[in-house]
Amino acid sequence: MLNALTPQAPDKILALMAAYREDPRDSKIDLGVGVYKDAGGNTPVMRAVKAAERQLVDTQSTKVYTGLAGDPAFAEALSTLVLGPARAADRLACVATPGGTGAIRQGLELVRMASPTARLWLSDPTWPNHPAIAKYLGVPVSDYRYFDAGTGGVDFDGMMADLAGVAVGDVVMLHGCCHNPTGANLTLDQWTTVADLLAARGAVPFVDIAYQGFGDGLEADAAGMRALLTRVPEALVAASCSKNFGIYRERTGLLMAIAASPAQLKVTQGAMSALNRLNFSFPPDHGARVVTMILTDAELRADWAGELEEVRRGMLSLRESLATALRDRVGSDRFGFLAAHRGMFSLLGATPEQVEAMRRDHGIYMVGDSRMNIAGLNAATVPLLADAIVAAGV
Ligand code: LMR
Repeated sequence: MLNALTPQAPDKILALMAAYREDPRDSKIDLGVGVYKDAGGNTPVMRAVKAAERQLVDTQSTKVYTGLAGDPAFAEALSTLVLGPARAADRLACVATPGGTGAIRQGLELVRMASPTARLWLSDPTWPNHPAIAKYLGVPVSDYRYFDAGTGGVDFDGMMADLAGVAVGDVVMLHGCCHNPTGANLTLDQWTTVADLLAARGAVPFVDIAYQGFGDGLEADAAGMRALLTRVPEALVAASCSKNFGIYRERTGLLMAIAASPAQLKVTQGAMSALNRLNFSFPPDHGARVVTMILTDAELRADWAGELEEVRRGMLSLRESLATALRDRVGSDRFGFLAAHRGMFSLLGATPEQVEAMRRDHGIYMVGDSRMNIAGLNAATVPLLADAIVAAGV
């Protein structure tokens, strides 16, 4: 049986992690996988997470199963953080999932169960796991234009022109904030324009929000998505706690389905819980419980939000330093888009050959499409990267 297996195409982000590990150079710089790093190159456990974990060890009296949908207190706390005033409890079904990837996977399983012919529309480019999971599940995929390589911003006219072609019941994936890989994001007005188009076409938005708090702040990062949710009857939202709580390996995510009416809530919730049962049964609980403790305790929450804000500001200042260092070197604002982007990532606009040259000659690891993890930089490496970008002729 096993001899019938064929090699799987490696995920380009994970392959890059392995290549970086194997590079013996001390001077190497990791701008690959989307993991936050402080100035010393470490990914620390956040203070509030440590404190909640200590409390949990002292107070948790059982490890018995939760429910198929996870702990309802987690769903309530995280959906409130994500959806804010757009949260309509009587139409909201939630399941805890293993990370944001689990939420995407379970969401696409739900799409396939409800509407086997629905087409999934993805931004071009997008996070490579979006098309990979859809392909594996047999969900047909189309791309919509998103990135304007000339300006480093969103090609909004192209996006609207392509989304005008969506059919009734198609599903349109949108990045809630901090677009991965480009770093270019919709304005609030653009969110409402997209929402109105999708509502008019009868398409269902599926928002992937994995970086809330990394762009303009916890509330600002959710504002566009929330505006959209008030304008469409139905939607799916996949949220991740990996980045904003820094609990990557705890696999903590939430899939939310907003039904068109309260009458559809029970069957929607039942389908989502059943899909959890089929794929992994009960979702992981440790990270979800820690997040719930933080979000429902005023002191822990304030400390977490404060630390997240420090992380966000640190990334913004790295963006600004890089844009300035490049302006000093090239004598123009050609790379000004790096300061305008938000979140962990920016698409630099280098060719695969230039990306390869920076890896070979300078030990700088970015994804082949020239996505850089800004959090992989520090004050000492910003000028080195700027030099390498210029030397590679970007
Ligand atoms: C990334 O895009 O680098 C992160 O979301 C990590 C991953 O799983 O790919």
